[in-house]
Amino acid sequence: MTVLPTVDATDVVDAKKTFRRVKRHFSPALATAGKFTGQGAVEVAAEGSRVILSDGRSLLDFGSYAVALLGHGNPRITDAVRQQLDRMPASTRSVQTSVAPLAAERLAEYIGGGLDRVYFGCGGADAVEVSVKLARMATGRTTVVAVDGAFHGKSLGALALTDNPRFRNGLEPLLQGVVRVSPDDPEAVAKVVREHDIAAVVFEPVQAENGVRILDEEILARWCRDAHDHGAFVVSDEIQVGLRRCGPRSVALAAGLDVDGVLLGKPLGGGAMPVSAAVCNDRLFAPLLADPMVHTATFSGHPLSTAVIPVALDLIEQHAHDGERIADAMAQGLAELREQFPDAVVETRGRGLLWGVDYRSPEMAGDVLTGLAQRGMVVSPCLSRPTTIRLLPPIVATDADVKEAMTMLTDATAGADSGNGTPPEGT
Ligand SMILES: Cc1ncc(COP(=O)(O)O)c(C=O)c1O
Repeated sequence: MTVLPTVDATDVVDAKKTFRRVKRHFSPALATAGKFTGQGAVEVAAEGSRVILSDGRSLLDFGSYAVALLGHGNPRITDAVRQQLDRMPASTRSVQTSVAPLAAERLAEYIGGGLDRVYFGCGGADAVEVSVKLARMATGRTTVVAVDGAFHGKSLGALALTDNPRFRNGLEPLLQGVVRVSPDDPEAVAKVVREHDIAAVVFEPVQAENGVRILDEEILARWCRDAHDHGAFVVSDEIQVGLRRCGPRSVALAAGLDVDGVLLGKPLGGGAMPVSAAVCNDRLFAPLLADPMVHTATFSGHPLSTAVIPVALDLIEQHAHDGERIADAMAQGLAELREQFPDAVVETRGRGLLWGVDYRSPEMAGDVLTGLAQRGMVVSPCLSRPTTIRLLPPIVATDADVKEAMTMLTDATAGADSGNGTPPEGT
């Protein structure tokens, strides 16, 4: 029998060994990307808006792919996990746990809009998958309308709605019956239903992965009407932009859109636990009302993840005003950036705590990313739009954090604009 070495504490902070393992067991490209962002170090701890690295440096986290809305390590979140861990970390799934139903009640109250039914997944794509399955089962139709530039995840069903050839190549044909429409066409759904019986229209009210593209609410309202007139469902994928990332609890409901389901994920687990949710009305949820076994998963509604949800929602509400203050500061700072670098920065746009900065070229955006990594800031690139850098400040960011972020972004842009992409002298 082989005796496996135990993991000792130094293994966790040993960057060189870590990258060797990533290279060997995950992929060499992933090791290169990780080395680049951490500048050779690995992350070992985090608190609030900062991540501590194995070389002792700390990074300002305006990225984390939208998960760390509440920052890192909020004690109320970690306490909620710890208490559940001590009480009962897993569920038999035969006897009912009280944890997930309580989370569902809080979430349904929080989101409103008559969306009382909840399915919990582990990641965002789970919520997308279940919403598509429900719409198809409830209508007996197969066609789903998705939007140009959409990102809904990479599992095979969700990927059928995602519009990026890089992720789809080699996998087609994916789930049949997805019709793609232009986000600029108010008639788009009306046109599709002339030719197809559709089950659902699925959109992101703000396309975050696609370079922070804000969809027109009047067009979305028209799509909702046309879909409902046709007997189809409407699902708003707010996995990245809901829960006050873009201001309101639900972007679609706040805009008065008549949606049948809102999908949530990322910060729902308080930045600590992997959990997502499809929050639906009775009509869309009908197949699961008729037979709750038609869509299940072993870890759906996991106690450790769902125990965090009421606390996370409470904390998000406590910081709602802070979010508005940070959003104003971001808008102002980015307008100044655009003014200062009119040739390098083509456009800045965003809502709330989600901002995109468009650079002149993908190379320039890449240079800015390098400059930010060197200066100590994590942001999220847009995989579907390589000219855009995405900024996702946490709702707990201080004024000093935002100021520091703007200084680093200005310096990194100056470095990239000067043509060499390296930090200017003295910074
Ligand atoms: C709008 C949207 N939908 C779905 C997903 C997929 O979520 P996950 O990666 O957790 O499966 C994402 C992830 O970025 C997303 O932004």
